[in-house]
Amino acid sequence: MAAAAGSLTVLVLAAGKGTRLRSRTIKLLHPVAGRPMVAWVLAAARGLRPARTVTVIGYQGDDVRAALTDDDTRFVVQAEQRGTGHAVLEASSALRGAGTVLILNGDLPTLRTETLRAFVRHHRRTGAALSVLSAEVPDARGYGRIVRGEDGSIRRIVEERDASAAERRIREINSGIYCADPKLLLRVLSTVRPDNAQGEYYITDAVGALLGQGRRVGVLCHDDHVEVLGVNTRQELSEAARRLYARKADALQDAGVTLVDADRTLIDPRASIGRDTVIWPDVVIEGASRLGEGCVLRPGCRIADSRLGKGVEVLDHCVVTDSSVGDGARLGPFAHLRPDTRLAAETRVGNFVELKKTRLGRGSKANHLAYLGDAEIGARCNIGAGTITCNYDGTHKHRTTLGDEVFIGSDSQLVAPVRVRKGAYVAAGSTVTSDVPAGALAVGRARQRNIDGWVKRRKKRKPGRGD
Ligand code: UD1
Ligand code: CA
Repeated sequence: MAAAAGSLTVLVLAAGKGTRLRSRTIKLLHPVAGRPMVAWVLAAARGLRPARTVTVIGYQGDDVRAALTDDDTRFVVQAEQRGTGHAVLEASSALRGAGTVLILNGDLPTLRTETLRAFVRHHRRTGAALSVLSAEVPDARGYGRIVRGEDGSIRRIVEERDASAAERRIREINSGIYCADPKLLLRVLSTVRPDNAQGEYYITDAVGALLGQGRRVGVLCHDDHVEVLGVNTRQELSEAARRLYARKADALQDAGVTLVDADRTLIDPRASIGRDTVIWPDVVIEGASRLGEGCVLRPGCRIADSRLGKGVEVLDHCVVTDSSVGDGARLGPFAHLRPDTRLAAETRVGNFVELKKTRLGRGSKANHLAYLGDAEIGARCNIGAGTITCNYDGTHKHRTTLGDEVFIGSDSQLVAPVRVRKGAYVAAGSTVTSDVPAGALAVGRARQRNIDGWVKRRKKRKPGRGD
């Protein structure tokens, strides 16, 4: 489908390998604040509402494709990585009809939509054939340098390896972010030769080539150089993550969330948190988790891809993954909600309680030491300390179902599949293997007998017989 004239197409270059992380995984797939870095580049671009987004993939292309399934991009495969200019040429047919193309290296995880918006606006205003976003950096090593003429206008970009000693002293670098008229760019790139130290086709050579044709090329120098510096090392990877988390922490605080120590709280940029929620240090919130207003999260909790209602209290060191927790519930300390757990409002889940694929009805409590898996538990139930749903028979998983107002005495096992109906009680220490009718008491344990005088007789026995 051809994009309308004047419309914006985003082209992300993500076919390269990136070797300096010394990893089996290509650079662009390394997670930064919970997502592969290339996904953040697409997220920043999506903020511009482009007519379309195209991603050039190559190395570990199937993994890159899989990592970007939610990102609404088309893919172009660059089978051989013959350079950034070659990557753009490979995307020629995907760029057909585009008004303006915004080209981005894939290793720019801290890039902001506002920066891109200002850059695209600048490009359109100047009417240049090609614009480059640059930055002044304290240490330009490894980057392409912006070579300017005496009048201050750009002449060309020279890669570190091809640069003269004087050019290497230039501290203005090419960020790898470009805006162009796609027709002019593609036409000139097809004339560029790989006459450089790496023997690659460089997109950066389009600068000199377009100028040679009398076209206009512009540079916009971005103030915040860290934002537009690519990630090349593990140190930069960590720095980028820190930035994304810090930005999120700032936005949350502006929106009325209390972070007791913002530098020690890692909240995924995709998460949303209601106001007056208080988050203690060493809390990690992952994915697009949603937390309501007025929650309290004590130190050391991890909440991943989950929903918490309003006024939920999560005491120290809880782990919550792929689960939901209703308003006013209280968890922990040391509670573990594994995937597909649904806690209704006003529930209580205490120390060393693990739940998996389990629904706990409104006002129900499991306060101490329990495992509840594949269970459907009604409202206002009390699950005693040490209760275990025996959900696995070695081959299959089975369900345990409890009606409302059920009371399970401490240290009981519920051998699934089994049902305990409304209002029934299970005596402490029971092993329940068959259904319990409503209102009944189940006692599933050996009757106790007391043997009088047993201790005294035992002590009289001759030693050495070992019993
Ligand atoms: C590139 C620029 C350099 C700039 C720097 C900023 C060129 C020639 N140089 O250098 O001026 O300062 O980025 O970080 O462009 N890629 C492909 N196909 C390829 C090669 C690369 O898709 O054949 C992708 C990579 O995945 C990456 C991006 O293009 O996302 C840049 O490639 P990279 O090898 O990192 O270029 P640099 O040498 O860093
Ligand atoms: Ca790079």
